[in-house]
Amino acid sequence: MSNFVKIFDTTLRDGEQAPGCSMNEEEKLKVALQLEKLGVDVIEAGFPIASEGDFNSVKLIAEKIKDCEVAGLSRANIKDIDRAWEAIKNAKNPRIHTFIATSDIHLKYKLKKTKDEVLEIIGQSVRHAAKYTSNVEFSCEDATRSDLDFLCSAISVAIQSGATTINIPDTVGYTVPSEFSKIIKYIKNKTEEIDSVILSVHCHNDLGLAVANSLTAIHEGVRQIECTINGLGERAGNASLEEIVMALKVRNDLNPYLTGINTKNIYPCSKLVSSVTGVTVQPNKAIVGANAFAHEAGIHQDGVLKQRNTYEIMEASEVGIPSNHIVLGKHSGRHAFKDRLNDFGYKLSDAKFEIAFVKFKELCDKKKYVFDEDIEALINEEFVRSGDFYKLNSLACSSGTDEKPVAKLTLNIDGQIIAVEESGEGPIDSVFQSICKAAAVSPKLDSYNVASVTGGMDAQAEVSVIIKEDNHTARGKGSSTDVIVASAKAFINALNNLRWRKMHPKIVSPKGI
Ligand code: KIV
Ligand code: ZN
Repeated sequence: MSNFVKIFDTTLRDGEQAPGCSMNEEEKLKVALQLEKLGVDVIEAGFPIASEGDFNSVKLIAEKIKDCEVAGLSRANIKDIDRAWEAIKNAKNPRIHTFIATSDIHLKYKLKKTKDEVLEIIGQSVRHAAKYTSNVEFSCEDATRSDLDFLCSAISVAIQSGATTINIPDTVGYTVPSEFSKIIKYIKNKTEEIDSVILSVHCHNDLGLAVANSLTAIHEGVRQIECTINGLGERAGNASLEEIVMALKVRNDLNPYLTGINTKNIYPCSKLVSSVTGVTVQPNKAIVGANAFAHEAGIHQDGVLKQRNTYEIMEASEVGIPSNHIVLGKHSGRHAFKDRLNDFGYKLSDAKFEIAFVKFKELCDKKKYVFDEDIEALINEEFVRSGDFYKLNSLACSSGTDEKPVAKLTLNIDGQIIAVEESGEGPIDSVFQSICKAAAVSPKLDSYNVASVTGGMDAQAEVSVIIKEDNHTARGKGSSTDVIVASAKAFINALNNLRWRKMHPKIVSPKGI
């Protein structure tokens, strides 16, 4: 059996299902292009029947991506499959991914169907998908809580009907490595046709075991792993792509398997996904967290300086983390700035470069040292997020021990400038109140967090917020050397995401029916 493990990335589908993570078409394409650069084998671009927006972004991605298979998700029914095919048919290598639940609990309460009825549906839908393409993946949703003999029957029917990849999802993140290993062994022993297909797993992280379960599955002969950048996904998320890939690479002595991932593109991809979704990576996240390669204790610092591998099992540069060195300053010119952007892999048009250069100079006036992270924050904020309806035009805010906090701001709303003044409990509250007044909205602020992009007294603040309105949740991020301005930008970013979300409501939920 080959030791090559296919990486199936579902950041744009399962990752996008995480609350507040929705991306627009342009943002999804940016992520897809970055995933292609990363070297994933399959990009699950979305769930085309879910909404017009999902359909369009899957279609766009299918047309632009050349080096990966592009999958569209569909429930096991003719209408979903036709819609998925319509979206992906122009891809160089399209894949239909169809699924239905196989556990008793899903059959009884969700599907309200008998086992025989489900087997019938699997046969019909896989046969229908196979009329379009031989690249058909079938998933048994909630496989790890299914009756194993029924699971094997479902897999058999799917293979006989034309499925070429069989996926075993741990949909609710319930299994543990020892049990998962037995489930896969059972399937392999009891399903005659199993050697004719690629076996895949899709693990959720509800018990924090998604990566461990995925690695166990590889040892049992699974050769496709479904995962997401930064471990995004429903509830506690999916298995994290970067953790699986680096576990295979760093411990190749115990995990003698290969992937096609260019690990140096892991960090840029993680940054991009965090930027477009507004979901900050926790500092202690393995591989891509801000502290993953930081050594605080003196004894550790001393050890690393003497011999790096005393406390480091991999090099930051292996996953594409730039060293935190001073890159540029006030006196740096266009040329040096362009070189630095090239190092990061940013290829800006001349017009965008000029905008970025002006912003960079403004930052140099505010900050003595401009670090790599500052430049990334600047580029992300200026160009990565897109489709803004609300833009901050100007902001002034006053507050103090004996002063009533007041914010005055002008907001550009769909091209119209609106000026407002509002006071609140404190400066941030005044800013948020004035933005709400200008935009005539009243979302609830659910969470507010500030972090610093780099160290030092003049560090840029990075603010993340979560807002809610009418059952919609949206996140926003903003950075600036001024924490009040960063807060305003984050709140406006969240409002843009909220408006985007309301304009693209999901017609059906991917987990529905
Ligand atoms: O978690 C799950 O079961 C899924 C399937 C649609 C593969 O996301
Ligand atoms: Zn899932």
